[in-house]
Amino acid sequence: MAETGGLFGAEIRDEFQLSKELVHLNHGSFGSVPRSVYEARLERMKELEICPDDWFRYNFVLLVTKGSETVSKLIGSSSSENVVFVENATGGITAALRSLGLKMQSKAGLLVTGLSYEAIRHTAHKVCEIEGHFVLHTINLDPPYKDKFEVVQRYRDYLSSHSDVHVAIVDHITSPSTLLLPVKEIVSVCHEFGVAVIIDGAHAPGQVEINVEDINAEFYTGNLHKWFFCPRG
Ligand SMILES: Cc1ncc(COP(=O)(O)O)c(C=O)c1O
Repeated sequence: MAETGGLFGAEIRDEFQLSKELVHLNHGSFGSVPRSVYEARLERMKELEICPDDWFRYNFVLLVTKGSETVSKLIGSSSSENVVFVENATGGITAALRSLGLKMQSKAGLLVTGLSYEAIRHTAHKVCEIEGHFVLHTINLDPPYKDKFEVVQRYRDYLSSHSDVHVAIVDHITSPSTLLLPVKEIVSVCHEFGVAVIIDGAHAPGQVEINVEDINAEFYTGNLHKWFFCPRG
């Protein structure tokens, strides 16, 4: 039998129903939720079965409103009206890209990074090649860097020589290279060049403190116990 080990992990181990025979490391692909979340979910499902009409017409709306208020506080959003639930981080990016794409008068540059998550790169490719709203650009963010300013400088250099870029997708924590990018500073440079930013937060909430007002991107999408998505402006 494997040892669970780890300070935080062992202390909260009983909060999870995961087999004690396993050390589950793949929370990124397939996670498990704490017992309290699991039980609340069963409770909601029971309520739904008892009176579906009431649930969808009234309870659901109230629960979503309450949920966005809670998430809003956790991520430092000034208004819960800027927070909506989506199915996953990829769905949030797709929604943001589609809504920005529809606003574009002509084909604009869409900047992803060489470290972007594969599903996000597929989404970007789709809006460029199939829906035709954007032309795909890729910035090289391969390490090493001396410090975070070097990453920011790479954005400055790229945007200085590619004035057609109008939208950038920036990872908060890259996958699978696990780099924590200086998103606030990258957003600031992008805005200097008139570029709207969608942050792919995927696994950042819970690992690093998030304040969406401070980061100041047009969109931030990420995963909590539930998914959230924060459109701004
Ligand atoms: C940076 C990044 N973006 C997107 C995703 C995909 O997340 P989801 O499955 O919630 O769409 C992941 C998953 O690991 C990720 O690490």
